[in-house]
Amino acid sequence: MKCDIKVIPLTEDGIVFYLSKYKPFRLRALECDPSSFGSNYAREAAFKDNEWAARLLNPLATTFVAVVHTDDYIDKHGGEQKKTTSVLSSATLWGPIPVSPDHLRLPRPNIDNDSDVPMHWEITGVWTAPEARRQGIAVQLLQEAARTAHSQTTSQNRDCHLTVNVMHNNATAILLYKRCGYTETISPNNHGQGPKTEQEPLVHLALLLPRAQGA
Ligand SMILES: CC(C)(COP(=O)(O)OP(=O)(O)OC[C@H]1O[C@@H](n2cnc3c(N)ncnc32)[C@H](O)[C@@H]1OP(=O)(O)O)[C@@H](O)C(=O)NCCC(=O)NCCS
Repeated sequence: MKCDIKVIPLTEDGIVFYLSKYKPFRLRALECDPSSFGSNYAREAAFKDNEWAARLLNPLATTFVAVVHTDDYIDKHGGEQKKTTSVLSSATLWGPIPVSPDHLRLPRPNIDNDSDVPMHWEITGVWTAPEARRQGIAVQLLQEAARTAHSQTTSQNRDCHLTVNVMHNNATAILLYKRCGYTETISPNNHGQGPKTEQEPLVHLALLLPRAQGA
């Protein structure tokens, strides 16, 4: 399916888009796949519009969407052709988040100075509408999010560390992240051994992108 990948801008137009298109899309995601998310429909359905807008405007959040435009709709009243934009898929990139490698459950690198510490970004809120699945849209979104984080870290002469947490029984999502180069990281609770438990229901995946040379 042909779609555009874009970042929702932190502007008046971006807020209008977020409230009119992203909000119903997000609520649909929480309704359709409640077990995939840390939040839930009842909680977010109760958000006021200013809370949704504050989410978009959070300086640490970048919201990526895949959209389609259909321009074959004729407005019966005005006789004009209208463009309808629909969100098919979304992912949010959080960061850079200042946390230590211990928190990331990663081997501690040899840290001589700040530039040896990777900058950390987290991916959340990944969902593709059921009618648009298995067409490579989530991969495109994750690649675009990784490009965005990587170019920012490279510009600061740092490596880029992307992480995501997935419910242990969400095999599809785990396959998706592995397809994008993520690998499972070691949890301090079970040392990466054996099945996940009620106490450790999340699988932690990470992708390290070394800073681009000569950028
Ligand atoms: C997981 C999810 C986001 C994938 O979205 P998508 O747009 O269909 O994903 P893509 O088409 O880009 O698939 C990329 C890869 O993911 C894996 N994958 C996706 N859907 C799969 C499925 N049903 N079965 C097996 N593998 C699958 C495959 O490796 C696939 O690559 P391939 O098609 O070349 O084999 C979507 O299924 C979804 O929204 N699930 C419910 C919400 C969710 O689990 N979100 C993640 C929370 S961490």
